[in-house]
Amino acid sequence: MTHAHDHDHDQATGHPSGRPSALAELLDLDATVLHASWADVTAWVRRLGDGIPHRRLLDLGAGTGNGTVALAQRFLGAEVVALDVSEEMLGRVRRRALDLGLADRVRTVRADLDAGLPDLEPVDLVWASMSLHEVADPDRVLADAHARLHPGGLLALVEIDGPVRFLPDDGLEARLTSFPHHGRDWARLLEKAGFEPVAGRTFDIELAPPHPPAVGRYAHAWFSHLRSALAGTLDPRDAARLDALADPHGPGSALHRDDLVVHGRRTGWVVRRP
Ligand SMILES: C[S@@+](CC[C@H](N)C(=O)[O-])C[C@H]1O[C@@H](n2cnc3c(N)ncnc32)[C@H](O)[C@@H]1O
Repeated sequence: MTHAHDHDHDQATGHPSGRPSALAELLDLDATVLHASWADVTAWVRRLGDGIPHRRLLDLGAGTGNGTVALAQRFLGAEVVALDVSEEMLGRVRRRALDLGLADRVRTVRADLDAGLPDLEPVDLVWASMSLHEVADPDRVLADAHARLHPGGLLALVEIDGPVRFLPDDGLEARLTSFPHHGRDWARLLEKAGFEPVAGRTFDIELAPPHPPAVGRYAHAWFSHLRSALAGTLDPRDAARLDALADPHGPGSALHRDDLVVHGRRTGWVVRRP
């Protein structure tokens, strides 16, 4: 999942666009289209978590539960607490856990990370995927996470290095998106919060056509999101191209193009509370 940056957070939902349903759809498509990448990242974290107890895990900014359910499936027997500011997202997490037979091990907690972590039991592993770039003060959230971990417990932070790109050609996507967390030195922030490094890794995403229909739906949802997030800020040529990509029916629709690519990269850091 990727976000355009220049928009305000909706106070009620915490979502940049204020439209949690559209974002939830993007998150679900992210998990479907980038299934292999998700599997690589969560398998990596699972291997690094081999030596720690697996009683309780915490997913910070869980969204629709992509990480929550992957962790519950990989860390058998663990309770996974999915925390998010959006009740709609958490409803999706609960439904998904129910569908997958994980409801007895998945618990949801609505909380705003910017207001501090609620009073939770200590956890063995904290997972934060693509969420810390959205909070106002990641230093503070990392310090809160550190305090909530058992000594020896792990924190896995996963962030996108840039927007997932779909178009094979020119610089439209580069012009339209930029990411404030690009410049953030997450390794330094983690160290500052008192963690010691365990491992770091990048995960490249590179999918070439032919694609399953979910890729078109993902690209279409993304360009639609961009179109509304950037409304009024685009030059007319870029606006027209974005309109064509986000149009569900036209010949230029992302839903129907057969030349889409999927390029991206995630970086993961796993650190330990000493
Ligand atoms: C880009 S989504 C990532 C979701 C999920 N971790 C994933 O990787 O699919 C970011 C999530 O962080 C949540 N979020 C943003 N700011 C938050 C805050 N201050 N407190 C709690 N959750 C927040 C949003 O509601 C959203 O569900």
